[in-house]
Amino acid sequence: MHVHVADHPLVSHKLTLLRDERTDSPTFRRLADELVTLLAYEATRDVRVDPVEVQTPVAPASGVHLSNPHPLVVPILRAGLGMLEGMQRLLPTAEVGFLGMVRNEETLEAATYAERLPDDLAGRQCYVLDPMLATGGTLAAAIEFLVRRGADDITAICLLAAPEGVARLENELNDVDVPVSLVTAGLDEKLNEKGYIVPGLGDAGDRLYGVVG
Ligand code: URA
Repeated sequence: MHVHVADHPLVSHKLTLLRDERTDSPTFRRLADELVTLLAYEATRDVRVDPVEVQTPVAPASGVHLSNPHPLVVPILRAGLGMLEGMQRLLPTAEVGFLGMVRNEETLEAATYAERLPDDLAGRQCYVLDPMLATGGTLAAAIEFLVRRGADDITAICLLAAPEGVARLENELNDVDVPVSLVTAGLDEKLNEKGYIVPGLGDAGDRLYGVVG
């Protein structure tokens, strides 16, 4: 798995504001949105394009356009929804599919509870949105799900990642024979005993949408 930690002063600036516990929900949503657009720029560096000729007012010019089928963007519910607009700003013609993942408390495995995706993802580049790569269980299950559907190139975009989550993805996706990349704004120190990223930014879903009792 290729891991890219975006190294840019604007990324660090926005991430620092997101981490700050004094940042309120509306500001958090706006910053997360802006940060995703910056990460999307990095994450789409290898988006597939085809050559095309256009006519400018002056002369013919060679360029490119996005290949068909266009990429699929997959936010993981709930917190991944807070990243969707920022991604669509850069890829407005991408299709969007949804995946809801929940941990089965008996098996401790992540299971799919909601899914709205094309049946056949053959030939699709997929961009998975999940703000926090913590233990990695959810993201690994989501990526495996997309690979079973036929996706042949997957990039996960996370605001923050923990080393434990990156290690689990690398381990669990060892046998997956499609390219998988991770683009994140920061690789933090560790997980704490409650599974929160340290120093992290707290519960991304709660900070985006408020605490659900
Ligand atoms: N999910 C979050 O929202 N925050 C964490 O720190 C870990 C998982």
